[in-house]
Amino acid sequence: MKNIVILGSGAGSNAENIVHYFKDHPSIRVASFVANKAEAGMVARAEKLGIPCKVFGRDAFYDTHSVVDFLQGIETDLVVLAGFLWLIPQELIKAFPNRIVNIHPALLPKFGGKGMYGSKVHQAVIEAGEEESGISIHLVNAHFDEGEILRQEKIKLDSAETAGSLEGRIRVLEHRFYPIVIEQLLARSSG
Ligand code: GAR
Repeated sequence: MKNIVILGSGAGSNAENIVHYFKDHPSIRVASFVANKAEAGMVARAEKLGIPCKVFGRDAFYDTHSVVDFLQGIETDLVVLAGFLWLIPQELIKAFPNRIVNIHPALLPKFGGKGMYGSKVHQAVIEAGEEESGISIHLVNAHFDEGEILRQEKIKLDSAETAGSLEGRIRVLEHRFYPIVIEQLLARSSG
């Protein structure tokens, strides 16, 4: 079995969707969630879904080896970021080279970088008068939103588009494509 661990800070809709996608998969399973605060929506979702969930605070994340130790201890094959707010420490990137993947709710390299998260991204896209937006699924390196792009999917903005409507339409794309790219990535790494 290949083990996925999903890191998040927020509501956890992508994390839950990925759990459902791999529920009966013959060779891939979601082994655990990792959240950076106990109040994150994904903590409650983990309980509902019967998925183990670890919470690591900022000190544990940046000043100790505990996250790498935890991930290696449960034989993690792929680290999946789903709405994870913090920069991934160099130590974690070194421990999982090309095995950390992120999803961003816009067409990188536009509308990425520090602070560009969730609804702020959609607001910025609307304010910039963009004609299209989409999703970017990419490998993670030491900089926010800058690793190799694995897949992008685009949509045209409607004339009456709002940040809220765009967020909903983007979420549909995220749920449709993120599990597929994860599956392809794990097939590639075993091949
Ligand atoms: C998702 O839209 C994801 O693309 C975004 O946070 C949201 C989390 O939603 N990530 C970023 O903005 C990363 N810069 P979820 O918790 O419901 O999956």
